[in-house]
Amino acid sequence: MKRILLLGAAVITPFATAFAQSSEDPLLAEARKVATTLPPKLIVALQDEIKKSGPEGAIPVCKDMAPKMAGEISQQTGWKIKRVSLKARNDARAIPDAWEKAALEDFDRRAAAGEPPAQLEKGEKIGNEYRFVKALPVQPLCLSCHGPSDQLSPAIKAALGQNYPNDRATGYSEGQIRGVISVRKAL
Ligand code: HEC
Repeated sequence: MKRILLLGAAVITPFATAFAQSSEDPLLAEARKVATTLPPKLIVALQDEIKKSGPEGAIPVCKDMAPKMAGEISQQTGWKIKRVSLKARNDARAIPDAWEKAALEDFDRRAAAGEPPAQLEKGEKIGNEYRFVKALPVQPLCLSCHGPSDQLSPAIKAALGQNYPNDRATGYSEGQIRGVISVRKAL
């Protein structure tokens, strides 16, 4: 009898899993899609520009192109898009609100406990809004501008110092969470 029950569970489990996936909140799926549009494009643009004109020449990619691309995706999708961090470089754009801050702290704890940072995300309906954040892990590519300050080139240090007198976004190592991409939409 016990055996039959176990067998039954083994048969049912894959169906239950498939059902859970197909019944996933469509808003979560939509938010995730919006949030994952920007980072790969940005990484390609950063790689291209670093190859052409070095890391200091690529600063405008993170400074001007990222918000411009976020604005375009917002217009196409109706979702507001930001990048925020517990250690912001750009105070005017990147300071998290209370909900984002709690998610960032939770992601840091979970990454430190061994969860793969690229998978950390959170979606929630709050009042008449849907909100979603997804972690942006530090990759080797990021280190020339977000790594330990003794490893930044003098040109990068000078450019960052000039543009961001309150820069807190250095000292990272690979695999840490640089920040999140944060998207929200009124329902
Ligand atoms: C060429 C230098 C450079 C590289 C390489 C770079 N960044 Fe940045 N990053 C910047 C600059 C400059 C800003 C400030 C942008 C602004 O003014 O909004 C920034 C801002 C950010 C922000 C917004 C939050 C904040 O602190 O202002 C995130 C998140 C971020 N970077 C993540 C990354 C990740 C992840 C990588 C690697 C995939 C990366 N960056 C690579 C220069 C760089």
